Amino acid sequence: MYKILRKTRLNPISVRIDVEAPLVARKAQVGQFIILRAGENSKRIPFTVMDSDAQAGVVSIIYQVLGAGTMELDQLTEGDSIRDFVGPLGEPSRLSGLARVCVVGGGLGCAIAYPSAKQLKREGAYVDGIVGFRNAEAALLEDEFRTVCDRFTLLTDDGSAGEKGFVTKALEERLSAGERYDEVLAIGPLPMMKAVCALTRKYNVKTTVSMNAIMVDGTGMCGGCRLSVNGQMKFACVDGPEFDGHQVDFDEAIARSGMYRDFEAHAREEACRLYEKEKAR
Ligand code: FES
Repeated sequence: MYKILRKTRLNPISVRIDVEAPLVARKAQVGQFIILRAGENSKRIPFTVMDSDAQAGVVSIIYQVLGAGTMELDQLTEGDSIRDFVGPLGEPSRLSGLARVCVVGGGLGCAIAYPSAKQLKREGAYVDGIVGFRNAEAALLEDEFRTVCDRFTLLTDDGSAGEKGFVTKALEERLSAGERYDEVLAIGPLPMMKAVCALTRKYNVKTTVSMNAIMVDGTGMCGGCRLSVNGQMKFACVDGPEFDGHQVDFDEAIARSGMYRDFEAHAREEACRLYEKEKAR
């Protein structure tokens, strides 16, 4: 069992939890993920490690209540315990040796983009941060990004915070003005990463993406997180989650991500029903 030490609401839809998990904290590196199960019969859900403190034995993740699994997780409070918390899984990010990097985050993907930006800064890189959200309410980790980025732009789809527009607008402005990067790191929804890759391909800038695919076992056995990368089959859980974005078949990944929508809607309804029943007791 893994105790929730702190639960912090970051905005109306996002929550950070700091979890007591000393063995995971000792080994976790930037870019790796964990798979948790809130209760005995809960769904397994993957989360990229947002922060870890080996000395304190604490691992932090950020979630949004989007499905049945996160709904069950959100019912736990400080002092409660998570049933399973397995990790660290996946390959760590390859961030050393880069001098000039643009970190692009979208929505909840910023929870993964931020530790990468922080690590790049620690390694001495010039870090240009571009983050985008649906609206001001969904904005996340702005102060943290500002602390680690040499240049930073926040955008929202509706202009309610920062500049109005998508992350590709700010990235295109920089690239067309002659800005050069060793690499662009893009983390967010699949359509966003696809659009960033289409843009950076035009400017011939190496681009790494983090593929948050459907995961079940996290060990390369179930095939749930299968992707096509450069025409070859890869598993996000063991070969990734980071890949060369110019080689990822995003259309296939987007089609696969929609495969379980009905199942997820049904599971969410069931979780709501159980939650209401529990409250009524
Ligand atoms: S989660 Fe099962 S193969 Fe990756």
